[in-house]
Amino acid sequence: MLPSQAILPPIPANARYLEFSANPDHDPRPALKTLASMADDGLVVGLGAGLVAGLGGEVAGLHGFVAQSGPGCNVPSSQADILCWIKGEDRGDIAARGRHIATLLAPAFRIERLSDGFRHREGRDLSGYEDGTENPEGEAALDATFVRSGPLMGSSFVTVQKWLHDLNHFESLPQEQRDNIIGRRLSDNVELEDAPDFAHVKRTAQESFSPEAFMLRRSMPWSDAGGEGLIFTSFAHSLTPFEAQMARMSGAEDGIIDGLFRFSRPITGAHYWCPPLAGRGLDLTAIGL
Ligand code: HEM
Repeated sequence: MLPSQAILPPIPANARYLEFSANPDHDPRPALKTLASMADDGLVVGLGAGLVAGLGGEVAGLHGFVAQSGPGCNVPSSQADILCWIKGEDRGDIAARGRHIATLLAPAFRIERLSDGFRHREGRDLSGYEDGTENPEGEAALDATFVRSGPLMGSSFVTVQKWLHDLNHFESLPQEQRDNIIGRRLSDNVELEDAPDFAHVKRTAQESFSPEAFMLRRSMPWSDAGGEGLIFTSFAHSLTPFEAQMARMSGAEDGIIDGLFRFSRPITGAHYWCPPLAGRGLDLTAIGL
């Protein structure tokens, strides 16, 4: 079983995140088999814990997104059953592919949420800061992203969390305060040595966790009538790295809330299991298909 090749490349120019919920009284199996056969470089498929359990599958470590409330911050859950992350250059092609997938999945599944993401410059958040600098690379990226042995070999776990920014507020802050929130200097992306404890990169320093909490981030900005922000997207060999980081960001460890909450907040949150590849398509043996 091979890792899904769609996960590793840098973010594309455009993408659509389609999340589906299962409709009761419909057998999801035929639709899932068709979806599995379609996975390619431009499509990442993730399956939620409820769907997997309903099919009698066993994916160790998979569970639904757990909402959290820290002092002064809220982290909601919006768990659904299927994620399709459709990537490409051309928005029209992406929209057409999304429509095709939704048609194939109906009536067993209905669209729960649709979000479009895009690349900003060379990969920046809309706050202007470079996002992804400390992503692991090469063999370290494979280790961080994929299960490397056992029955789930080649699988990954993805977390999608849409954040809503208040950029008017952020941009009203002096540059030094903005840099302190992120923990890096906007001008040259250098990490601040004397960053405050709430600085985002201090909260999430991957090697500071025990065990270390490395992940592959592939987040994309979004902007529409509902506002603007970042669709945080991370892949890892388990859900533990995300959960450890989110717990620290929300102040659960020491009461210090990540500086990001000063101008942004999560409005969705969901975890999915990304099956490995087998031949042409996804290997769904873990869920009995
Ligand atoms: C509003 C949402 C977010 C924004 C704008 C944001 C932005 C950034 C930026 C600008 C950096 C520094 C450059 C880099 O290494 O990529 C960074 C680093 C990082 N972020 Fe975020 N981030 C967000 C949410 C999250 C969340 C929810 C997590 C995990 C739960 C997370 C985990 C990380 C990690 C692991 C690093 C690298 C830390 C290190 O080892 O140096 N981020 N983020």
